[in-house]
Amino acid sequence: MPEPVIPRPEKLPVGVAGLGLMGTSITACLLAAGHPVTAIELKAERRATARRRLSALLTEMSREGLFRGSVKGALDRFQASGDVARLEGTGLVIEAIYENLEQKRELLESIEAIVGPKAPIGCNTSAIPISLLQQSARNPKRILGIHWAEPAHTTRFLEVICGKETSPALARRVVAQARYWGKEPTLVRRDIRGFITNRCFYALLREALYLVEQGYATVADVDRSLRNDLGYWITFAGPFRFLDLTGIPAYDAVATDLFPELSNAKEVPAPLRRLAKAGAKGVANSRGFYKYSHGQAERWEKLFLEFSYRIRALAQDYPEDVGDRPQRRPKRKPRS
Ligand SMILES: NC(=O)c1ccc[n+]([C@@H]2O[C@H](COP(=O)([O-])OP(=O)(O)OC[C@H]3O[C@@H](n4cnc5c(N)ncnc54)[C@H](O)[C@@H]3O)[C@@H](O)[C@H]2O)c1
Repeated sequence: MPEPVIPRPEKLPVGVAGLGLMGTSITACLLAAGHPVTAIELKAERRATARRRLSALLTEMSREGLFRGSVKGALDRFQASGDVARLEGTGLVIEAIYENLEQKRELLESIEAIVGPKAPIGCNTSAIPISLLQQSARNPKRILGIHWAEPAHTTRFLEVICGKETSPALARRVVAQARYWGKEPTLVRRDIRGFITNRCFYALLREALYLVEQGYATVADVDRSLRNDLGYWITFAGPFRFLDLTGIPAYDAVATDLFPELSNAKEVPAPLRRLAKAGAKGVANSRGFYKYSHGQAERWEKLFLEFSYRIRALAQDYPEDVGDRPQRRPKRKPRS
């Protein structure tokens, strides 16, 4: 199928709804790609601080070689408002408001009333089926999932999800557009709750919580095992490539015995429920599966960001497919 023709980012004004954690990093990514961006945010304080927060992200992207333009020039292409009517004239809208079906539906209704009938409207939901968001839409064909991973200005992940009614041609256009954003997008052809990565991650999370809850291992031991096994190869190869690399028959034999014994609990396991009920938010409020001093929590956040730039660079040296001949890899200076 021929690649769809898509506009250069400078020619495609984008609307973003919500300037929280994700809306801000999504906006930074879009500005770095060259789009003019209009953001809608209900909270005045978040609108007032948006330029400062975006400036910090864009400066960091420049330092890491992900953005080559001027930070001021990028910010000149940005405006924030509390009024959804300001999205008029945008050719693509991405919503990143709370994970709440009713609130997202209500917002989609008001966006549809403002933007042109052909403009795609992408929902950055973690797990709400896109078909449910389409149910009350005027033109459900142009509604699709555009699922980013935080920090959205550095990660190469993007899932483009077709709901029951989404136009496949429109979804392919968004996939092509996303290459300008530095992404390696995937297309989810049929809508399913949680899409790809969240379905797989939550299956792993349930099993990890089960092992802890049943006393087989501590939180730290589960973390250490997964970091040093899964963590060693998952950026290099997905599970199917990994099976090809390490031999298939053994996995068939192990799965025969192991699958019936894996947790298939329907309830949220107690260790997670207890923490959530007690108000633990992880490093955000220094309370989680581990204890943190304020300084430690800040340091974890910084290290996570630093790591995400480094792993991005490493992954790009090892593309998801290889030709018949060895490729010359750019030499990287090891960091001190
Ligand atoms: N945080 C993550 O790592 C992550 C990853 C992938 C997907 N998501 C999804 O992205 C969405 C946003 O998550 P977040 O973590 O950025 O949330 P957040 O709470 O940080 O931000 C949401 C923002 O939306 C604003 N808002 C709410 N209703 C609005 C409206 N009608 N119009 C304009 N602004 C409105 C809020 O004021 C807030 O600033 C959620 O659906 C979440 O599930 C989050």
